[in-house]
Amino acid sequence: MPYYRVAGEIPRKRHIRFNRPDGGLYAEELMGEEGFSSDSSLLYHVHPPTAIVKSEALSKKISDANLTSNHPLLPRHYRTQDLTPGGDLVLGRQPLVGNDDVVVSYVAAGAESELYRNSVGDEAVYIQAGSARFESVYGVIEAAEGDYVIVPRGTTHRWLPAKNNDSDGPGGDTGDTTPVKALIVEARGHIRPPKRYLSQLGQFLEHAPYCERDLRGVAGPLLARGEDVPVIVRNRAGLTRLTYAYHPFDVVGWDGCLYPYAFNISDFEPIVKRTHAPPPVHQTFEGPNFVICSFCPRPLDFDPRSVPIPYNHHNVDSDELMFYVAGDYSARAGSGVGIGSVTLHPSGFTHGPTPGAVEAVIEAMAAGRTSTDETAVMIDTFRPLALARQASGAEDPEYAWSWARAARSAR
Ligand SMILES: [Fe+2]
Repeated sequence: MPYYRVAGEIPRKRHIRFNRPDGGLYAEELMGEEGFSSDSSLLYHVHPPTAIVKSEALSKKISDANLTSNHPLLPRHYRTQDLTPGGDLVLGRQPLVGNDDVVVSYVAAGAESELYRNSVGDEAVYIQAGSARFESVYGVIEAAEGDYVIVPRGTTHRWLPAKNNDSDGPGGDTGDTTPVKALIVEARGHIRPPKRYLSQLGQFLEHAPYCERDLRGVAGPLLARGEDVPVIVRNRAGLTRLTYAYHPFDVVGWDGCLYPYAFNISDFEPIVKRTHAPPPVHQTFEGPNFVICSFCPRPLDFDPRSVPIPYNHHNVDSDELMFYVAGDYSARAGSGVGIGSVTLHPSGFTHGPTPGAVEAVIEAMAAGRTSTDETAVMIDTFRPLALARQASGAEDPEYAWSWARAARSAR
C-alpha cells in the first residue's frame, strides 16, 4: 500500500526510451504484486536484471523450522537471550514458531549478510537492539532500535550491522559490530497496514495510529559495481544461489507504491479507552492469516474503577505470540517473563494476568501511577503455531504453571 514515491532519475512517461549517458538504454524492471493488478514499482537498471550466469542449490534453509506440534498443549515461554548469538540477519535466523502462513525467528547478528531475496513472501524485521544498514535494489534504510523494516517479496537486499565507533580505544574505530537483535516475521504473502485505517484509495485515515509521515522510505537509489554477484533466492522449494552477471544494485531511479520502508514503534500513537482496550487497538500490520500489534508506553486506563491491565481471555481462533521489548510488563509480573522473552499463548488455553497482578496495579494507581512503560510486539496467527525444535533449549519449562503457582501462593 505505501504511497507513491520517486527516487533518483526516471523518464517523463512509463515505457519510453530512457538513455544512459553512453547512449545505451536503461533496462526496465517492473516489480508488481498480484500479477499486474496491485501495487508496483518501475525500476531502471544500468544492466539487464535478467542476466544470470549460474544457479546452485543451497543445502541450508533459512528458518528451516523443524516444526513440531504444540502437543500436549501448553503455553510457552522462550528466553531469546538464551539462544546462541551469531551469524547474519538472513542465514543466522533461529526459528521459534511457525505454521503454513508465517515463521517467526530471532537473530542476534554480528555479521554482514549475503545478498538475499525472499520470493515466498514479505518480511517484517523488528529491530530490538542495535542498528544496521539495509541495502536494497531500491536504496538504503538506516535501521535502528524499534524499527519495523517491511521488505516486500522479491526485494534483493542485504543487512550490514553497524560498526562500533569507539574512538576512546587506542586504535580509534574498532571496526567491531554490536549484534543486531531482531525478531523476524516471514509471511507467505504481503504485510500491509490494517485495511480499516486506510481510505478507499489507500491514504491513512485520521483515526489511524500512524500515517504516511511516520513511514521512512529508502534514501536512494543505491549504485554498486560488480560482476558475477551471487544472490541467495528463497522460494518454496528452498534456497538457490543465483549468480548475476552484474551487481543488482545498479538502479538509477524508480517510482511506484511498492518498496521497502521502516516504521519505528515509538511513532505508534497508542489508542486508549477509559476502561481496558483490547489488542486490536494496537494493531500495526496485517498479513495473510496473522496480524502484528505494537504495545507502547501509554496512559493507564483512566476510569477511577478501571482494571488497567488485560482481563483473562481465550482467543478461540488464534495463537498469540508476544515479544517483550522494553519496560515493565505488569500483567505477567512474577511469571519469569522479562525483556527478551517470547511467550506463546495458544488457542485452547485461557491466559491473562498473573494472579495478584491486577491488585498490585490498582494499588500502584492509588499511589499515583498513571502510565505504563511497556513495549511489546505481538503476533496473532489464525492457525495454530507449531514449535521449532531448535528453540527448545531456550524454553522455560516452568512457565505453564506460573498462573497456578501465583494463585496458590496467594491463598
Ligand atoms: Fe493475550
